[in-house]
Amino acid sequence: MGLPGVSVAVVVVALILNAAVLCNGGITSSFVRKAEKTVDMPLDSDVFRVPPGYNAPQQVHITQGDHVGKGVIISWVTQDEPGSNTALYWTEKSKHKNRAEGIVVTYKFYNYTSGYIHHCTIKNLKLDTKYYYEVGIGNTTRQFWFTTPPRVGPDVPYTFGLIGDLGQSYDSNRTLTHYESNLKKGQTVLFVGDLSYADDYPFHDNVRWDTWGRFVERSVAYQPWIWTAGNHEIDFAPEIVYNVKRTIVILLQGETIPFKPYRHRYHVPYRTSGKYTPQYKWLEKEFPKVNRSETPWLIVFMHSPWYNSYNYHYMEGETMRVMYEPWFVEYKVDVVFAGHVHAYERSERVSNIAYNIVNGVCTPISDQSAPVYITIGDGGNLEGLATNMTEPQPLYSAYREASFGHAIFDIKNRSHAYYSWHRNQDGYAIEADSLWFFNRFWNPLDESTRWDVL
Ligand SMILES: [Fe+2]
Repeated sequence: MGLPGVSVAVVVVALILNAAVLCNGGITSSFVRKAEKTVDMPLDSDVFRVPPGYNAPQQVHITQGDHVGKGVIISWVTQDEPGSNTALYWTEKSKHKNRAEGIVVTYKFYNYTSGYIHHCTIKNLKLDTKYYYEVGIGNTTRQFWFTTPPRVGPDVPYTFGLIGDLGQSYDSNRTLTHYESNLKKGQTVLFVGDLSYADDYPFHDNVRWDTWGRFVERSVAYQPWIWTAGNHEIDFAPEIVYNVKRTIVILLQGETIPFKPYRHRYHVPYRTSGKYTPQYKWLEKEFPKVNRSETPWLIVFMHSPWYNSYNYHYMEGETMRVMYEPWFVEYKVDVVFAGHVHAYERSERVSNIAYNIVNGVCTPISDQSAPVYITIGDGGNLEGLATNMTEPQPLYSAYREASFGHAIFDIKNRSHAYYSWHRNQDGYAIEADSLWFFNRFWNPLDESTRWDVL
């Protein structure tokens, strides 16, 4: 006789719980960051210091130079004269110094003329090996080192750092210091776009590209940063023209070559992808090539987020989502990292691929073949935090917080990866948000905590 009463109670409780969850999607962190303006570090800051010595190499940075990790692109700038294009490199065991010849480029942007920007690809390296390298000439050489990645395999651990929208403010410096000091040592940074924010200065003052290069050298000279270009790399500025009669004919159109500073400064191994085509054609052929037995984790990173519950950059990634999201689900992408929005957010596994304009099916649904979407545009640039959020928090949003920070994606084996996000205000080892990721191909278990309501 008592049974119906129990049932009713259960139903009522369930309704109340559902109502509560529907009103509040996931977790909106109550953490409130100290209110202070985000300002760029002044030009005479120690982190921007030019290395000593005539024509000393500066802004040294490396990125992966091929598909398998046996190549590295070394880049650096010499300010006074071209100097040498040669990079010397050797292993700890072998004292023999190998040589590789690079190229040197320069560019002009409005009234700015760049230094001599060197790019040198070194190839046929041994995997999982520490290399030293030296750039420069005469008395002003500089030495650095890096470690090549291990041979790919289903259970090879590897640790990625995630940084986005970094800029060069005091907060940017905190983000980089926290990343370097994290006990989980990142081996490569996946950078989700918007590097220097030089374009926020009058005439896109390219001196701020140089200061940014010197600022991040302490990390990127020693481990590859893999780049995504953001909107602050475009540097399209037809409006900045010389107002001088004798040059007006030549310069009237301003700076109209998109990505000019970025493409001169940050060379990437685009030829190793086997084609130079528009992105859709490339990605269509790229996804089927991923062999999850060799590389179990499928990570995508881009600049503009597809799932974003802050009131900034609303639906800017929508056209891209409409085109690509069915592939992300079909190929079981594990995680997508994006930047652009200057805050932090992690989604549940959701998709929104059923919508066809007329059917009204336009609400993201729980989908265990879909990736988790993480917005990590919280590097700390001078534009400040995105603090205004959509209310109530949408169901797809698992955790969001308006703080600066960085993240670590720590691959353990083919089935598990440990993810953590670290806000700048905490000690170096604190995880403000964390999650065990289960691989979508090998171990597609449900990690979400709110699957029942989606
Ligand atoms: Fe952006």
